[in-house]
Amino acid sequence: MKIAISGKGGVGKTTLCALLAREAVSQGKRVLAVDADPNPTLAMILGFPEEITPLVELKELMEERMGSLEGFLRLNPKVDDIPERFSVERDGIKLLVMGPIRQGGGGCACPQNTFLKSLLQYLVLERDELILLDFEAGLEPLGRATAQGVDALLIVVEPDSASVVTARRIYTLAQQIGVRKIFAVANKIREPGELRTIQESLEIEVIGALPYSERLRVAGPSSLSSDAEFRHRAQAILASIVHPHPQPLSP
Ligand SMILES: Nc1ncnc2c1ncn2[C@@H]1O[C@H](COP(=O)(O)OP(=O)(O)OP(=O)(O)O)[C@@H](O)[C@H]1O
Ligand SMILES: [Mg+2]
Repeated sequence: MKIAISGKGGVGKTTLCALLAREAVSQGKRVLAVDADPNPTLAMILGFPEEITPLVELKELMEERMGSLEGFLRLNPKVDDIPERFSVERDGIKLLVMGPIRQGGGGCACPQNTFLKSLLQYLVLERDELILLDFEAGLEPLGRATAQGVDALLIVVEPDSASVVTARRIYTLAQQIGVRKIFAVANKIREPGELRTIQESLEIEVIGALPYSERLRVAGPSSLSSDAEFRHRAQAILASIVHPHPQPLSP
């Protein structure tokens, strides 16, 4: 199952990705978390001690797979060995830091982009495990071909109108490019009225709500690994993606 996470900047995409990854591993699932944000923070949030060089910056690898970076490019580079060779593992979670997929000026087809797109497509179409994709805000990097291989898109929303507007925009785009299941997750909820407002403002099914937590903000998701409340909520989100059933949510 492949789950992509999107939403406005700072809403809690990476935090949710980490919480779901931890929960899925504790349920015995094989998990590959993929950081595709130009400003990768998933490694830090998952507690990896070292800086991880994004794949896109591995010049030798790019040259090996893409041909000379100045000459002709391969359009279908070999990528199937990348997850095993370049992912790092901690607490049972495998992590791949991809680097940004940028559309350069004038629709640049730079080799790094072609490589990352092929890798992403391979991951979302071929790998039999839980893949959690942490993207930058917006869906443009996902692209049509890749989106069709994603089983679900989670749009994270916090109680402010900008994140709701962004969620609506992402929803429209995701529908257009054919994402099959699109859900919202409310985050940083301080009181029940905030969740109700989010639910009323969106036509997207809200399958989870995470409370605002000062501990989470200060110490990160790893501080919540034995927090029954957050674990329960992460479990419920994972379960709802597989078997969606509208249920009253409590904030
Ligand atoms: N439920 C929560 N309660 C309190 N703080 C939270 C909660 N969820 C996330 N945060 C905090 O909000 C900030 C942004 O979270 P995070 O980095 O996960 O967002 P993001 O959407 O991935 O951001 P970016 O768009 O920069 O990638 C962090 O300081 C994080 O600790
Ligand atoms: Mg993030």
